[in-house]
Amino acid sequence: MEHFISIADLSAEEIWQLLNQAKALKDEWREGGNEPILKGKVLGMVFQKPSLRTRVSFDVAMLHLGGHALYLSPNEIRLGQRESVADVARVLSRYVDGIMARVFAHDHILQLAEHSRVPVINGLSDYNHPCQAIADVFTIWEKRGDPKGLKLAYVGDGNNVAVSLLFAATKLGMHFAIGNPPGYDLPADALALGQRFAQESGSQILTTHDPVEAVTNADVVYTDTWTSMGQEEEQAKRAAVFPPYQVNSSLLTHARPDAIVMHCLPAHRGQEITDEVADGPQSVLFDQAENRLHAQKGILAVLMGTR
Ligand code: CP
Ligand code: NVA
Repeated sequence: MEHFISIADLSAEEIWQLLNQAKALKDEWREGGNEPILKGKVLGMVFQKPSLRTRVSFDVAMLHLGGHALYLSPNEIRLGQRESVADVARVLSRYVDGIMARVFAHDHILQLAEHSRVPVINGLSDYNHPCQAIADVFTIWEKRGDPKGLKLAYVGDGNNVAVSLLFAATKLGMHFAIGNPPGYDLPADALALGQRFAQESGSQILTTHDPVEAVTNADVVYTDTWTSMGQEEEQAKRAAVFPPYQVNSSLLTHARPDAIVMHCLPAHRGQEITDEVADGPQSVLFDQAENRLHAQKGILAVLMGTR
């Protein structure tokens, strides 16, 4: 695994390699601390957008594994504005052992990878969010066992988080349903890829504009913000369209009684999810957020370590 750009690039075996590493490193950490397998290594973290989970979990993961992380804020590098994306990759990769970047244009992640001498990790682009999906399937594996044959229902915008979940689900043989408003579908290219992966793994994909149909008999109910970072000018328009897609206790009655509820966070309580559900007995939101730390360790160990 040279870079970590999209779940679509990985085989099911490679996803399981990351999940197994995440589990081993979580267990090791719980038993008293991690071995310094990244001693002396530095991760450069380039951010064009805000972050709590991604920034802190990568920083702490590097610290726990004996390395160091450098936070490079949107105002410092000014990717593609102060200098070209290719030159940023050429220069930064002379200093650090890995680059993690959160960008607007997905093409900037591809350009970083093309011109970097060290592994590049996609910490979210407008197209996808693969680190989130690894933490998510890790959480599903912990809570419900092997994801194969389970049904994940995503309710809301066909956005970056939905794309990576589609890929992770269909690579691992998990059924994937999406209930989204008309006009907010998954990108057609991502859906076509997911359909190919689903054929190979035996999972089924359901796309619908009916949130009840999507969540019926689901084992996992997942939602995300209606307005992603960079879409702020569409907020009012989206706020008028998305309310029927709120994950609330009434919608949840259509899922399996033991279904878990997930959200990548940050949550907009009272919009895509109610307090009652976010804080209710089926919610795994904060275990899921914690697992970003363990998943990042798995990704770092495979890309930058000797494991
Ligand atoms: N879920 C997630 O990526 O959160 P942050 O935007 O806070 O990193
Ligand atoms: N879809 C959201 C995810 C945030 C982690 C966004 O891109 O803003």
